[in-house]
Amino acid sequence: MTAAPGSGTLPDTQVRAMFDRIARVYDRMNSVMTAGMHHRWRERAAELANVRAGSTALDVATGTGDLAIALARRGAEVTGSDFAPAMLEIARRKAPGLTFEQGDALDLGYDDGSFDAVTVGFGARNFSDLDRGLAEMARVTRSGGRVVILEITTPAKPPLSWFFRAWFDRIVPQLGRVAGDPDAYTYLPSSVRRFPEPPELGRRMAAAGLVDVRWILTAGGIIAIHSGTKP
Ligand SMILES: C[S@@+](CC[C@H](N)C(=O)[O-])C[C@H]1O[C@@H](n2cnc3c(N)ncnc32)[C@H](O)[C@@H]1O
Repeated sequence: MTAAPGSGTLPDTQVRAMFDRIARVYDRMNSVMTAGMHHRWRERAAELANVRAGSTALDVATGTGDLAIALARRGAEVTGSDFAPAMLEIARRKAPGLTFEQGDALDLGYDDGSFDAVTVGFGARNFSDLDRGLAEMARVTRSGGRVVILEITTPAKPPLSWFFRAWFDRIVPQLGRVAGDPDAYTYLPSSVRRFPEPPELGRRMAAAGLVDVRWILTAGGIIAIHSGTKP
């Protein structure tokens, strides 16, 4: 099956191929698109994961590993997992001390309750089955452990909503063209638009079995960080 990048939904094989294709430019594009602010958002997500020295953490859809690295900076023993080998290769080069493993977020190869915290940064909107991804994250979290989801969200109110639309619908695809992959950077805004809004994502985390689900909005409402606890 093939799908148009503008639909915001792609089958897993196409998502994986797309990230393998853009791995080389991915970090640079993040810095350009967010004016370097993405590091601060990952730090905030790592803080909400509540890890400390001796904690174990899994970062699913880890990509080039920046959220895994932020968790490790807090003392956690971190595993990063992703299904795109080219993204993992960059993660391993950046952080040779961490464990990076190839794996599918919808079918994690870890036992129930293996980790004190499980995170995903800008990855959940790419899951072909969000509920299954959430259920897997909850399953491998130990009782009392945290699940944290960092994602782009659509600001509701003008003027930020206008700016967001112009930036994502016009500028980002142009930047993608310059970076050599217009399709990938057309898919990005579409995938953000079709992703559930914060209250709905919160409900779906609760449906995955998490309690005390809450979220913060930051960067003027374009970034949502959800957290939930495994009972
Ligand atoms: C936008 S990148 C985010 C990377 C990184 N977490 C970050 O914060 O920059 C999305 C990543 O999700 C991965 N991904 C998407 N669906 C996945 C799945 N089902 N299993 C594993 N990785 C997946 C892609 O390969 C890609 O590396």
